[in-house]
Amino acid sequence: MSKRKKIIILGIETSCDETSAAVVRAISHKPSAINFQILSNIVMSQIAIHKKYGGIVPEVAARNHVKNIISALEAAIKQAQMKPADIDRIAVTYGPGLITSLMVGVETARNIAYVWKKPVSQVDHIKAHVFAACLGNQGVFFPAIALVVSGGHTELLLVNRGWKFRKIGQTVDDAAGEAFDKVAKMLGLGFPGGPAVEQTAKEGNPKAIDFPRPMIRSKDFNFSFAGLKTAVLYTLRGNKTHTSPSLMRGGKGGSKQRSADVCASFQQAVVDVLMAKTIRAAKQYKVKTLIVGGGVAANILLRKIMEEKSQSLGLKFIIPEIKLCTDNAAPVAVAGYFKKPVSWKKLKVEPNLER
Ligand code: KG4
Ligand code: ZN
Repeated sequence: MSKRKKIIILGIETSCDETSAAVVRAISHKPSAINFQILSNIVMSQIAIHKKYGGIVPEVAARNHVKNIISALEAAIKQAQMKPADIDRIAVTYGPGLITSLMVGVETARNIAYVWKKPVSQVDHIKAHVFAACLGNQGVFFPAIALVVSGGHTELLLVNRGWKFRKIGQTVDDAAGEAFDKVAKMLGLGFPGGPAVEQTAKEGNPKAIDFPRPMIRSKDFNFSFAGLKTAVLYTLRGNKTHTSPSLMRGGKGGSKQRSADVCASFQQAVVDVLMAKTIRAAKQYKVKTLIVGGGVAANILLRKIMEEKSQSLGLKFIIPEIKLCTDNAAPVAVAGYFKKPVSWKKLKVEPNLER
């Protein structure tokens, strides 16, 4: 009979504006074949609260994490039909992220680890976005290239056997998600910007405006999105120094079609750059698997183009289902499986954590 080892992990995620708790069961048949099952994944979104400010207000986010974290944990444990005694390990995001938001998750993890006498693993938020790839139980072949595209980060990571990460490139200015959010703001499309730009782009022509593809031919694996954002701003201004808000909103003086064309052309430019650099990295490092994760990985055009390109190169392509791309605690629990636990006394937050 095969020896199957099961462990139950409680994941906690509060690095930005989602308060999330999840219970994940890891079943290992052998070290290289681990099956992850999500037993519960509670995400309490603060989007409605931050919408009126047009972006995330860190202190407001932290206050709401404090308000929500206990209910999120209770709901996750109840939905998983578990008792605290059934939990083998706690996994918590300790960075990178907003310092006061991270503190809520880490202090909660510290308290329950102490009271329930459980080991606790500190998880890197960016790596958690990559570990979301394990939740489809497809099996990752190493080496792999992971593109993480979120609101605060755009990174290319080389992932070797044993989940050894090496950062090979990153944005030198704005993150891809940040560029989506800023373009949405310019057009008065609301927050968060990514889904709004994607929706508006549906009616637009991606070839209408020839936006720049910054750093697409640079020899490194870095990205830049600030210049592209500025190019969108100048387009909206019609190259004038001042633009009326109505034009930016596609109102009087602008048009709905113009907004749609701007969104479609901008989205295409971002996707082209992300694709070109990721594929070049995949070729250079002769990888077998390509993983895409983070909030921007919810973007349908990015998903489609990355999948097509991976298939044409014979690469295994893994992208989490959409609700597992944006911030949630299930991948945090998976990441915690691979990370050695520490004592509750050693837990700390690292808002600027690097890989
Ligand atoms: O990973 P995530 O949920 O939070 C951070 O760690 O930052 O990513 C949030 C980012 C936001 O910038 C949001 O606008 C972007 O992901 N995003 C999208 C889409 N859905 C979310 N960007 C483009 N297309 C989408 N469908
Ligand atoms: Zn994230």
